[in-house]
Amino acid sequence: MKSSNFNRRRFLQASGAAAIWIPTSVRGYTTAEIESFFVDGEMQVDVSKWELDTPALCVDLDLLETNLAKMQATMGANGIASRPHAKTHKCPVIARMQIDTGSVGICTAKVSEAEVMFRNGIEEILMTTTNVTPTKINRAMSLAEECPGFVQATDSMDNARLLSEAAVARNLVADVVVDVDPGMGRTGTPPGQPALNLAQLVDQLPGLRFRGMLSYDGASQHVAGFAARRARTLEAMAPAADTLELLQRSGLRTDIFSGGGTGTYNIDHEVSGLTDVQVGSYVFMDAQYLEIGGEQDDTVYSDFEPSLTILATVLNDQYAGRATSDAGAKACTINRPWPVVKGETDISYTSGSDEFGTIRYGENASRTYQVGDKLELIVSHCDPVVNLYDHIYAIRNDRVEAIWRVAGRGMSA
Ligand SMILES: Cc1ncc(COP(=O)(O)O)c(C=O)c1O
Repeated sequence: MKSSNFNRRRFLQASGAAAIWIPTSVRGYTTAEIESFFVDGEMQVDVSKWELDTPALCVDLDLLETNLAKMQATMGANGIASRPHAKTHKCPVIARMQIDTGSVGICTAKVSEAEVMFRNGIEEILMTTTNVTPTKINRAMSLAEECPGFVQATDSMDNARLLSEAAVARNLVADVVVDVDPGMGRTGTPPGQPALNLAQLVDQLPGLRFRGMLSYDGASQHVAGFAARRARTLEAMAPAADTLELLQRSGLRTDIFSGGGTGTYNIDHEVSGLTDVQVGSYVFMDAQYLEIGGEQDDTVYSDFEPSLTILATVLNDQYAGRATSDAGAKACTINRPWPVVKGETDISYTSGSDEFGTIRYGENASRTYQVGDKLELIVSHCDPVVNLYDHIYAIRNDRVEAIWRVAGRGMSA
């Protein structure tokens, strides 16, 4: 109601300037202000997340830490390592937390992402996409010169020769894994003899050091139902596992066989020879993953907590059955399922408009919103959402504890 809206406002006499109204519930601290409060790794001012200017990308630290601990506990119990994919968070602070809690390194999708991670202190990096242009190959070799822990993928003989030539030109021996396709037909070389031929070539080329294999079964990650997901990924990954054996029988030494993801993290250890799991989304979770169901809970994938949310502000409450927020496609993407309004029931959210989100109340909606109210959205798909933001606010008990740069934001080349 308008009167309560009015009650939430206070009158502020700006020094020397005209009087302005500031609604207390929507103070709206900007990113620049929060950055100025964050000195030597500590917030100097106590700020509630509800006072942030919006749309704001927030991560709940307790939930993030729970996810990291759960992953490491599972990996430990299953005798396999994690090598989390930084394409999800693009944030060196989170990469550091993953390594500090036991991951053997990180993956990156792009050479630019790998460069950013290295510049920010991450030294064990497996780049899972092949570099095919001279520009990217040169960037990858420059990185390999500086970063001994950088490993890149190749999936064809021509590409392997180009990588070797670029490395030799720099007096370098670059670490390479062979990308083996688990039946997706997207990237990689077919398993079996083609993969063996490529691995043997890599092993012989003067500029390359053969390190092993990578095989990412993306098609299985979001299969609904644990049993169906398990059956599908074990079937899809079997030819890659056989290929590893073939490589080893031929006398090649392999120390990496990397694959898997958040949907199969507790299945991947059953793939013979797999050394590490390239889990990405588990740190944040999202509406897409929540839908697939887990081993314990067939309806919701509750293995990990949805730690990442978008904070939005209501802009309009004048129309029956709905309200409008400031978080549309540019804040949330148009991925499906749509974002989920956290902590509420029978309230749906769509982010199809560029600048506006639409909140719709069902018959049993747990509440309605007024202009200036804030709401929190569990993101649709974490990776592309993170790529829309320069910063993530790290929140504990609803207070801002830190602000982190998404240093890899936009690093798509
Ligand atoms: C090569 C590769 N590895 C790992 C992942 C991580 O997947 P998830 O976010 O499902 O854990 C992805 C995601 O698309 C990927 O492309």
